[in-house]
Amino acid sequence: NAWYADQIDRVIIDEAELAAKVKELAKEISADFADVDGVLLVGVFKGAVMFMADLARALTVPVEMEFMALSSYGNAATSSGTVRIMKDLDTDLKGKHVIVVEDIIDSGLTLSWLLKYLGSRSPESVSVVSMLRKPDAQKIDVPVRYLGFDIPNEFVVGYGLDFAERYRELPFIGVVKPEVYQK
Ligand code: PRP
Ligand code: MN
Ligand code: MG
Repeated sequence: NAWYADQIDRVIIDEAELAAKVKELAKEISADFADVDGVLLVGVFKGAVMFMADLARALTVPVEMEFMALSSYGNAATSSGTVRIMKDLDTDLKGKHVIVVEDIIDSGLTLSWLLKYLGSRSPESVSVVSMLRKPDAQKIDVPVRYLGFDIPNEFVVGYGLDFAERYRELPFIGVVKPEVYQK
C-alpha cells in the first residue's frame, strides 16, 4: 500500500484523466495562439507547478515561463483572502500574451487579485487556465478561459494541491479524509 492510502478517502480525477485534459487544453490554447509569437505562462507557486510543467510540454507554440509566489492560505484549510507577493515576475509583460496557470480556483480571491496586478503591467493579453475550479466555493467571479474540471467543494489534494504542504506529489486528485485536517 502507498504511504497515503489511509489518508485519502477517494480519487476523484485519476492520472489518465488529468493527462487527457492537459492534452485537450494544450490543443485549444495552441490553436488560439497559433498566430502570435508564443505565450508567456505565469505559474502560481507552488500548486501550479505540476500542471505548468505538463502544460508547457504539451503546447505546440513557443513558450516562456515565469513563476510568481503568492500566499493566501498558509496552512489553513480555508482562504484568509489576504494575498501577499512572495516572489514577483522576473520579466516585463509588455507585448506578451500572458496565460496565468493555476491548479485550482477556490474562492477566486487569489486569481482576482493577480489579474488586476498583471493587467496593470501592460501585457498584450491575459487569460487564465486552471485545472480545477470549485464553483460552490467561489466568492468572486473570475474569467477562466480554459478550465479542466469543476469539482465539488471538498478538500482535495494531489497534482500540486497540498494540505499543510503535503500530498502535492500525488499523481491524481483525491479527497482527504476528514480526520487528516480535523486533527
Ligand atoms: C491555493 C491554490 C490557488 C489558490 C486558490 O494556493 O493553489 O493558488 O489557493 O484559492 P482561492 O481561489 O481561494 O484564492 P495556496 O495559497 O494554498 O498556495 P500553494 O499553491 O503554495 O499551495
Ligand atoms: Mn496556489
Ligand atoms: Mg496550498
